[in-house]
Amino acid sequence: MAVNMKGKDLISIADLSLEEIYEIFDVAKSLKRKLYTGEEHHYLKGKTLGMIFSKPSTRTRISFETGIYQLGGYGMYFNQNDLQLGKSENIHDTAKVLSRYLDGIMIRTFSHQDVIDLAKYATIPVINGLTDLLHPCQVLSDLFTILEKRNKLQGLKLAYIGDGNNVAHSLLHGCSKVGMDIVVASPKGYEPKKEIVDNAIEIAKYMGSKVEIINDPFEAVKNADVVYTDVWASMGQEKEAEERRKVFKNYQVNLELIKHAKDDYLFMHCLPAHRGEEVIDEIIDSPNSIVFDEAENRLHVQKAIMVLIM
Ligand code: CP
Ligand code: NVA
Repeated sequence: MAVNMKGKDLISIADLSLEEIYEIFDVAKSLKRKLYTGEEHHYLKGKTLGMIFSKPSTRTRISFETGIYQLGGYGMYFNQNDLQLGKSENIHDTAKVLSRYLDGIMIRTFSHQDVIDLAKYATIPVINGLTDLLHPCQVLSDLFTILEKRNKLQGLKLAYIGDGNNVAHSLLHGCSKVGMDIVVASPKGYEPKKEIVDNAIEIAKYMGSKVEIINDPFEAVKNADVVYTDVWASMGQEKEAEERRKVFKNYQVNLELIKHAKDDYLFMHCLPAHRGEEVIDEIIDSPNSIVFDEAENRLHVQKAIMVLIM
């Protein structure tokens, strides 16, 4: 392996170098091929990954659990009720104790700071499986999927339509790191966080790519190679869902909007999708849609991450 990532945490794409990102893609490609051809390997034989979930999950849980199993290791699932964490034990002590048993921790939770603290006190790698702020494993898998389809990343344009949420934030980091232009179109007041945007603009400068935050979805999709959207109300925002349906109604990815993208545009969504809200069936089920390839690639990319850091 060209780049040594052993012991590293995977908390934000902003923490990764371009070489590390492409190392993850190279290893993912090789692991995907080995899985397809049935080639035996057990890179993480005997290793245990603890998986802490404070929010629900289909893809993240199943891809990590299957992934560690395919690598010869074992995945141990906890929801927050299973642990003393957040009840009678703090993050510091939990991190210290888990580090004595496990070889890696994957955590999905609300507070991004909790993941940073867990990683600070743990002596084993910590992987961010989604926080309110970021979803790095998703976006690394998305970029890998675009690379598979287009054979390049640099110079492509991605338009993200909708809420300036965790997925949008990681896309800002990811696209700027690999030199893709990114335009985010969100309603006023729902734009991505300024600190993330500023960071992405800074990174994009080195790559000669563009970062734009606008309010007009039609302007955003103009000439886009990739059109990406996500739910209007994320996990934890259920009470705002009705209000958000009104605010976001002009941000649906539908036939009218998509006309402005390139003819061979790729449609992406991290899933789960709320069909009829942020996207309509005719788009998500169209030949341009690669949503299930993205979902599959979570498995291969996260296996690569585990192999490299654990
Ligand atoms: N995209 C994603 O992270 O899906 P889950 O919430 O099902 O894990
Ligand atoms: N933004 C969504 C992503 C789900 C994978 C959420 O946080 O609920």
